[in-house]
Amino acid sequence: MIRATHHFPKGFLWGTATSSHQVEGGNQANDWWAWETETGRISEGQRSGRACEWWDGRWEEDLDRAAESGQNAHRLSIEWSRIEPEPGKWDTDALDRYEQIITGALERGLMPMVTLHHFTNPGWFLEQGGWTERGGVERFEQYAAKVVERLKDRVALWVTINEPNVYAYNAYSSGLFPPGEQDLQKTIQVMVNMTRAHAAAYRAIHTIQPEALVGLAHHYRGMRPSRSYHPLDRLVTGLRSSAFNDAIPRAIRDGSFRLLWHWERIPEAKGTQDFVGLNYYTEEEVAFSPSNPTELFGQGQFSPQADLSPTGFIANQPEGFWRALTWAHAFRLPIYVTENGADDPYGGFRPRYLAGHIRQLWRATNLSWQVGGYFHWSLVDNFEWERGWTQRWGLWALDPETQVRTKRPSADFFAEICRENGLSSDMVARYAPEALSKLFPVDDPGQLAAGASF
Ligand code: GAL
Repeated sequence: MIRATHHFPKGFLWGTATSSHQVEGGNQANDWWAWETETGRISEGQRSGRACEWWDGRWEEDLDRAAESGQNAHRLSIEWSRIEPEPGKWDTDALDRYEQIITGALERGLMPMVTLHHFTNPGWFLEQGGWTERGGVERFEQYAAKVVERLKDRVALWVTINEPNVYAYNAYSSGLFPPGEQDLQKTIQVMVNMTRAHAAAYRAIHTIQPEALVGLAHHYRGMRPSRSYHPLDRLVTGLRSSAFNDAIPRAIRDGSFRLLWHWERIPEAKGTQDFVGLNYYTEEEVAFSPSNPTELFGQGQFSPQADLSPTGFIANQPEGFWRALTWAHAFRLPIYVTENGADDPYGGFRPRYLAGHIRQLWRATNLSWQVGGYFHWSLVDNFEWERGWTQRWGLWALDPETQVRTKRPSADFFAEICRENGLSSDMVARYAPEALSKLFPVDDPGQLAAGASF
């Protein structure tokens, strides 16, 4: 075995990511709370309930865990429905609480990255038409300004909106998120309005805090044609990837939104990101499927040889991460990996997933691409949207009944990566031995002569 360490640049941010509704508990004023009470919406009828009890103070013990395990950053989100429970009515106690949490992160040496919208909306906002209405843009801008005014001395890294493509698709096409509609035209409208809202918030933040770094967390889903030789597989892969992965980021770069037949100028969006926030989880293969018009005539699936997470939700595709990083690099801006991770309650999958993905991240830094940090999803198990508690994504396991946290081996693995600011063959040998020969190829001179591949 070749003994080696892949070092990351000095000052690299290592952390985990969470979101308000998934960890806080008791978010009664948002659109998810009511949605979760409806039959058939969430796996096994589960609910967010008390979640990880962050709102009642357990953020302290969890941020202790993060800091004690070598992390130096944390990505969290603000719950709009707490800040503005009724239109135009601002809850200063809630702002105080967030200030306290963010101060607590700083005191622990965790640089906060703060997201303003992570899938949930105030109930009143949805009743007013939510993101299908253009009026939502100004509402969001006012909320963003309110939060940034208060937190500008403590937060340097802002994410306006988390995964607008996933939100729009799930809320208005697949129907998995509230309001559960299936309407392509509305999906497009929501993407356009969220792009406008991002741009408005970007400008509002910079007016209040000119030195802030502001971006958006893009979900990039890797897609490759099922049969590379098949023109129709290639065509639908391109169509789907362009609609899902490119429409919004392109609009933010150029001020022009294009998705299928829809073309619209959004001039105010041009140049409104200071960094590319990249959420990458997995890559799928897409085959032409004439019976699937709502999915743009494509059928996405994992390759039969794929290494799958225990629920089959994630395929371990580190090369897809490399392709996603390459995509992000094309914007010629700093990159932050705002989410990456896998569901795995047992610990037999996450370590090799982590090792493979960190290795690809290192390749990017090694080419001097400006990658500033990596946020693993997630710190502790939390409420996973329509999948409820049936998937476990935490470095720490959580029993939502007793609130007891139990460390998983990947927490120790990640802690070693953070402390070393690098990934070593020795770590991989201990935490993910099955991945060792792939990540650190054997010292066979024949192989070296042939050029070890990544
Ligand atoms: C992302 C989302 C997170 C988390 C994660 C794992 O799309 O932003 O909130 O749920 O998926 O499912």
